[in-house]
Amino acid sequence: MEKMGLNEIREAYLSFFESKGHLRLPSFSLVPKNDKGLLIINAGMAPLKPYFTGLQVPPSTRVTTCQKCVRTGDIENVGKTSRHGTFFEMLGNFSFGDYFKEEVIPWAWEFITEILKLPKERLYVTIYLDDDEAFKIWTEKAGVDPKRIFRLGKEDNFWEIGKGPCGPCSEIHYDRGEGVVTSVDEFVKAADEDRIVEFWNLVFTQFDKDEEGNYNKLPNPNIDTGMGLERIAGIMQNKFSIFEVDTIRKVLDEVCNISQKVYGENEHNDISIRIITDHIRSTTFMISDDILPSNEGRGYVLRRLLRRASRHGKLLGINGAFLGRLCDVVIEKSFKAYPELKEKKDYIKKIIKLEEERFAETIDSGMDILNEYILELKKENSNILSGEKAFRLYDTYGFPLELTEEILEDKDIKIDIDEFNKEMQEQRERARSAREESNYMGVNNGILDKIPYDIKTEFKGYSNLELPSKVNLLILGEEFVNELSEGDSGILVTEETPFYSEMGGQIGDKGIIFGDNFEGIVTDCKKNISNKIIHFINIERGILKLGEEITLKVDKNIRSSVSKNHTATHMLHKALRIVLGEHVHQSGSYVDDERLRFDFTHFTSLTEEEIKRVEFIVNKNIMETFGVETNVMTLEEAKQSGAVALFDDKYGDAVRVVSVGDFSKELCGGTHVNNSGEIGLFKIISESGVAAGIRRIEAVTGFTALKSIDEKIELIKNIERDLKCAEKDILNKINIVTNEVREKDKEIIKLKSKLASGSENDIIKSIKEIKGIKFAAAALKDVDINSLRDLADKTRNKMGEGVVVLGSDINGKVQLIAMATKDAVLKGINCGKIIKEVASICGGGGGGRPDMAQAGGKKPEKLEEAIEKVESIMEKLVK
Ligand code: ALA
Repeated sequence: MEKMGLNEIREAYLSFFESKGHLRLPSFSLVPKNDKGLLIINAGMAPLKPYFTGLQVPPSTRVTTCQKCVRTGDIENVGKTSRHGTFFEMLGNFSFGDYFKEEVIPWAWEFITEILKLPKERLYVTIYLDDDEAFKIWTEKAGVDPKRIFRLGKEDNFWEIGKGPCGPCSEIHYDRGEGVVTSVDEFVKAADEDRIVEFWNLVFTQFDKDEEGNYNKLPNPNIDTGMGLERIAGIMQNKFSIFEVDTIRKVLDEVCNISQKVYGENEHNDISIRIITDHIRSTTFMISDDILPSNEGRGYVLRRLLRRASRHGKLLGINGAFLGRLCDVVIEKSFKAYPELKEKKDYIKKIIKLEEERFAETIDSGMDILNEYILELKKENSNILSGEKAFRLYDTYGFPLELTEEILEDKDIKIDIDEFNKEMQEQRERARSAREESNYMGVNNGILDKIPYDIKTEFKGYSNLELPSKVNLLILGEEFVNELSEGDSGILVTEETPFYSEMGGQIGDKGIIFGDNFEGIVTDCKKNISNKIIHFINIERGILKLGEEITLKVDKNIRSSVSKNHTATHMLHKALRIVLGEHVHQSGSYVDDERLRFDFTHFTSLTEEEIKRVEFIVNKNIMETFGVETNVMTLEEAKQSGAVALFDDKYGDAVRVVSVGDFSKELCGGTHVNNSGEIGLFKIISESGVAAGIRRIEAVTGFTALKSIDEKIELIKNIERDLKCAEKDILNKINIVTNEVREKDKEIIKLKSKLASGSENDIIKSIKEIKGIKFAAAALKDVDINSLRDLADKTRNKMGEGVVVLGSDINGKVQLIAMATKDAVLKGINCGKIIKEVASICGGGGGGRPDMAQAGGKKPEKLEEAIEKVESIMEKLVK
């Protein structure tokens, strides 16, 4: 058996299956498309589900991939064992209604025994209980010794993951031990002990499991196989642990290097080293697929992994941010198979660093709080941390629940998860926007997924805004119907359409439809999962019938505004790259008839200067009146031509490349103007941050841009009118007015204090004595707290010794102050206590020292009454 590297095995596998007529596809993104049931891609077949179920046509009926996968189900075991990891690559070969067991079994055997040259005497095969067909092929066609084949039940040899394609399977296992296993029981025992390891699963996908758990037979049986690349590499390299596999060991070595720890010396450290090694792999890949740390969904998974890795770094004694350095090794070892890693290297490192820094800011205070909680629990003899406290750690200190759980695990403390979930739910409800969920394209696509695949719907609207076509399908509610009548809101599918369906950030077209017997409006246009164009329509008059010939007419003005905004988005993208640098990548966009929104990778907010330059460059190129051209070519040609694009999941098909003169060139399926001059004018209306490392620009074009400028001019006119001056004098006038206001404020303060000192005499007159202590108490009006303090001070000085309590009713609120001389305090006076009682009568609170205290209140109408109480309060205090 040769010692092959992980990268070599991947290549050997993919080219082997290419030689068997398979199309090699690049790994799909870790972010599932059109799969609401799945957070992150977790198996090679996951992104291919629509090909298995027949909702989409595959580019070839035989496909082979090496798919990046993340599974976090076993996360608590990662680090503790040498074989669990959250990130792995899955090699697979797939048949979509093409070959079946007869072919796949002998191929698998050929690959492992002739290419990988695994010794047959170390291999075992398992099959599903009653799968005699597989048994026959294994023994007769592949020549496997029947004694090395075991039959296992649904737990082991039936593959399914959530809803979707599934079926019985057959697994291939490698035996690391000595001697021969002769019975199922022995086999199961050896597998439990990790002596025998499964490394390749051949799934005979025959069913599509629906939401209710029914197994619906698929029209054509398929093949889905999965071989964990790290696992087979471990076998080939004679390593028991995935962390010892060549490329992964390099990452682990770097963890040791940074932490100055030796792997294998201390079990605690080893766990942390393995956790970091695994998590940096998954997080680097996740970020390269545009997942960003957040508190929701995938973003939360990423945050959890990053924070967990960061904490284990701390446990190893690493100071400061370190994960970015590890990223370099991951990228170095994998970029050949995953070029996006290299393309986005700086970006990935920056996101990781930002998240590390953010966590570092709170981790220490969070740990202090958690340690206090632990002490409290110990005192109370309890081992359950309340969900509310765990939530506070999560919400305020960014401790993912699982991290708190992990820290507490060592101390045998559990978290009240139900209560935590309740808090979380409440927060979500508080935060939930008034967003309405549409039934079509909502959580459950229901009927839309059932639109037959062979129905023709063709977009003909790049240059055509009106055309006749045949009604192919009508939907009302959750049913296909033969007609829609006045008042109905439903869905229309026609053979051809000039309506652009929402895609690539551009909204769907709006417009009208009509025929001999009906009129209706199109409120939106989208595509279902099989790329069928669906019009959302309302019938305004008459009846629309299936099979009828109708006219579809796009609203020209809306389309034209949308196209202006779309072309401008490309130009903005280019201008940003010129001004800010090549690290700017589109991370989202939205284009409608009002404005455009463009999200892109960049780390700081744009300066006024940068915004101006971007705007200038776009406008300059608008004025160049460049022709806008669309060329259809292959993806490869598009890449070569230097077109900018998010090159994910697009292959095989022809693509459209849109160029604005020689200024910008982008891959795009949207609609555009014919000449940049049509855009007229481009104006940025806002620049903001949407997430760490992602900025957002909103802009307007054409008449909307003109309108936004008109509005500004209107505003200036209004200012001129109100300030009674000409435009050129506005700034001057504002300066004069603000100076005047400032002067007047000063004057008011002076006058107030004069007024207050007028009260001084009244206060002195009110001086009384109680138990030998002089005191003055008065309720005043409109005296602010500074003047009040001044007044109290003066009164106290005049009295020589004693107590002053003053209150003021000002701007609908109460201000209170109490001061006492030393002698008075010695006799038992406590201003803090006095003020507390007085303030509580006035609906407020406050306090202070025995010689001086201050408070506020909300009930000015109670002030008199409160001041009258001072005497009795003092009486209580003085002994
Ligand atoms: N889909 C199968 C698995 O993930 C091959 O094991």
